[in-house]
Amino acid sequence: PGPGWTTHADAVVVGSGIAGLTAALELRTRVRRVLLVTKAELRSGSTVWAQGGIAAVLDPEDTPAAHLHDTLVAGVGLSDPVAVEVLVTEGPERVHELVARGATFDRAADGGIALTREGGHRADRIAHAGGDATGAEISRALVAQIEAVQDDPGIEVVENALVLDVLTGAPDAAGERPVAGVTLHVRGEGSRDGVGAVLAPVVVLATGGVGQVFRSSTNPPGATADGIAAALRAGAVVGDLEFVQFHPTVLWLGAGARGQLPLISEAVRGEGALLLDVEGHRFMPGVHELAELAPRDVVAHAIVRQMDATAADHVLLDARGLGRDFLARRFPGITARLAQAGIDWSEEPVPVAPAQHYHSGGVVTDLRGRTSVPGLYAVGEVACTGVHGANRLASNSLLEGLVFAHRAAHDVAARFDAGDLAAAPAPVERPGGSALVAAAARSRVQRITSDGAGPIRSADSLAAADARLAQVTTTAHEAAGVVAAPQTAEWETTNVHQVARALVRAASVRTESRGGHFRTDFPASDPAWERRVTLRLDDDGTL
Ligand code: SIN
Repeated sequence: PGPGWTTHADAVVVGSGIAGLTAALELRTRVRRVLLVTKAELRSGSTVWAQGGIAAVLDPEDTPAAHLHDTLVAGVGLSDPVAVEVLVTEGPERVHELVARGATFDRAADGGIALTREGGHRADRIAHAGGDATGAEISRALVAQIEAVQDDPGIEVVENALVLDVLTGAPDAAGERPVAGVTLHVRGEGSRDGVGAVLAPVVVLATGGVGQVFRSSTNPPGATADGIAAALRAGAVVGDLEFVQFHPTVLWLGAGARGQLPLISEAVRGEGALLLDVEGHRFMPGVHELAELAPRDVVAHAIVRQMDATAADHVLLDARGLGRDFLARRFPGITARLAQAGIDWSEEPVPVAPAQHYHSGGVVTDLRGRTSVPGLYAVGEVACTGVHGANRLASNSLLEGLVFAHRAAHDVAARFDAGDLAAAPAPVERPGGSALVAAAARSRVQRITSDGAGPIRSADSLAAADARLAQVTTTAHEAAGVVAAPQTAEWETTNVHQVARALVRAASVRTESRGGHFRTDFPASDPAWERRVTLRLDDDGTL
C-alpha cells in the first residue's frame, strides 16, 4: 500500500539495541533531525537478553593484540584483521563512554570493572553487569539517555514501527540507487499510524538478528531478519549468511520446545562449570585444549556429536561445584529462570542443547558502516563488518555494535558537514518486489531452515530446504488468502522467508566446513574457501 503519511529526517535509525541507541545518541547533536524507529518498545530487542557481557581490553595485563588474536582464531580464517583491529583498539574507550552514559558494571574488590572469561578468550576481559544481566543494564542506561532528550526537536522516537522497505532513488552515475528513506508500518495512534514514509538521505539499519528463521533460538520473537531482508530488496550486498552461531548451552525444555529458549551464559563455564554427557562423562578435554572454554562452534559441534553418540537430545551442564551462594550471587537471572523450570542447579546438572543464538553474517559494510547502497548503513548484528568471520568470539557482539555504531554516526555527521549528503532523492519504485508470505507459514519456514541449515548441513539437506522454501511463497500465500491490507506478522514472515532462502543459498555455495557452517559432505576446511560468499538480489527478485 502507498504511504498514508510522510515525514522528513536527516537520518533514520532503525532498531533500539546497543547499536541503534548508540547511533541515535551520537547523531543527535551532529545532524539536524534524527528519527529513531523501533519495532516494539525502546527496551525491546536482543540487547536486553545479553547475559555474559561485553569483551574489551580493560585489564592492564591484557593487550589489544591478544584480543585481536583470540578474535581471529575464533573467526577461523575469515575475520577481516583490519576490522578486528578497529574493534579491539577502539573498544575500551567506547566501554568507558558507556560507563559515562550511566551503565553500571560489576566491580572487583579493588574498585575496577570486574572481568571474567568466556569461550575462546585467553584472558579475563568480559565486563558484566547485574551478574548475568549485562545487556539489560546497557539498554537501561542508553534508553534513559534517549528519554532524557525526548523533548529535543532534534530527535523523534517512533515505537511499534516495523520498517517495511528501504526507499531508493533513481540510479546515480555509478548505477547505484541512493537511499531515499524508509516505509514503516506503525501500530500507533494519531498522525503516525498505519503505513507511512520517512524521506531521508541516510538510513542506519540496526535491526538485530535472524533467530525467527530457526525453530528455536535465544533471540526474542522480534528477531525476524527485517534488516537483511529490507537491505536485500534495496539492492544491498549481503555476506557470510551461512555463518549462524548455535550457542552450546541453551536450557533444554523438552523435544517439542520452540521459540525463544533460555540461555545459560557461557560465563557459567567461564567460572568453572563442566559439560557432561547424559551418562555423566566429561567430553570436552579430548576435543580442544581449552576444553569447555573452546570457541563456541567447537563446543556446539562436540555437543551435537556427543548427543548422537549417546542417543540423547541434550547434554548436561554441571555447575554444582560453584556452590549455591556463588551461583545465586553471580548468576541471579539464570538461577531464577532455572528455579521456574524446577531446577536447583546447585544440586543437579542442567540439561542443555545448542540453539540458534547469533548471525555472524549480514549486510556487508566497510569500516564506517557504509553498505553498497549509497546512504544505507548497517550496524550491530544485522551488519557484516568482517569482525566475526566464520564464528563470533563470545561477548564481541555488544562491543561490535558499540564501536561500529559510533563510527557510522561520525561518518554520517562528517558527510553532512562536508555537504556530501543533501536532501533525500525522490523515491523511485524498484522493479520486481516480493510476494507476501502468510503469517501462518512461519513455523513451516522455521522447520525447513532448521532441518536443512541447522548445526549440521549437507548438499542434500540444503537442496531439500531450498526446494521446500521455494514452494512456500505461492502456496502458503494463496492457501491462507493473504488479505489486501497485510499486518506486521505477514511482513515479518516474508522477511523470515526471504532471509531463509538467502541463508540456505549461501550455505549450499560454501562446499567446506568452517566455524558456524558444518557440512557432513565436506567435513574439512578448505583453504580455497578463505573468502566470503556474498549475495545480492537482481532487479527481477532472484538471488
Ligand atoms: C553468553 O552469555 O553466553 C552469551 C555471550 C555472547 O553471546 O557473546
